Amino acid sequence: MKPYEVLLKENKHWAAKKLEDDPGFFNRLSHLQTPEFLWIGCSDSRVPANEITGTDPGEIFVHRNVANLVINTDVNVLTVLDYAVNHLKIRHVIVCGHYGCGGVKAAMTNTDLKPLLNMWLRGIKDVIRLHRHELSVIDDEAKRSDRLVELNVQEQVFNLAKTSIIQRAWKNEQRPDLHGWVYGLNDGIIKPVFEMKAGTHIDPLYEYDNL
Ligand code: CO
Repeated sequence: MKPYEVLLKENKHWAAKKLEDDPGFFNRLSHLQTPEFLWIGCSDSRVPANEITGTDPGEIFVHRNVANLVINTDVNVLTVLDYAVNHLKIRHVIVCGHYGCGGVKAAMTNTDLKPLLNMWLRGIKDVIRLHRHELSVIDDEAKRSDRLVELNVQEQVFNLAKTSIIQRAWKNEQRPDLHGWVYGLNDGIIKPVFEMKAGTHIDPLYEYDNL
């Protein structure tokens, strides 16, 4: 059996097991999607949103990219955000990074990773520049990259708050709350590192007054 055929076989087992536990499972989900959470996580294969949070299909709307970035010109992440906030009416957005993130580590180096990765990871270099002082006093490289993972998550939460999508929902519906979390590959534990309740004021420079 080819490796990808194993996936299809396992899928049949999984579907059968789900039906056994809950005969109405697929019928229910195929008619309605009402997740309470939007998850913006790293593409890293070791950080599967549903599995590490013990949630089922239907509970979390998921977007993943390299190093869990919210970039203001990224049509992909903004479309997901717009749909999740305005159509699914989610109540919480979670940006979840993870310690040992390869994208974050790469951004700490001066290596030319060729155009696309250079372009994508530039966003993390900006986080380093914003927090240069705090990071520069951490001698241990692993600890420094762990702290950068936390600061990156925090900045991505700020990036969410800078969008008119979030600001409009905050003004009109007092949701969603924004959360910055970091997952530990070593122990499987998620550490909340930053939070912004709906309606939090940010630097006025980024606040729209005609929402
Ligand atoms: Co990563």
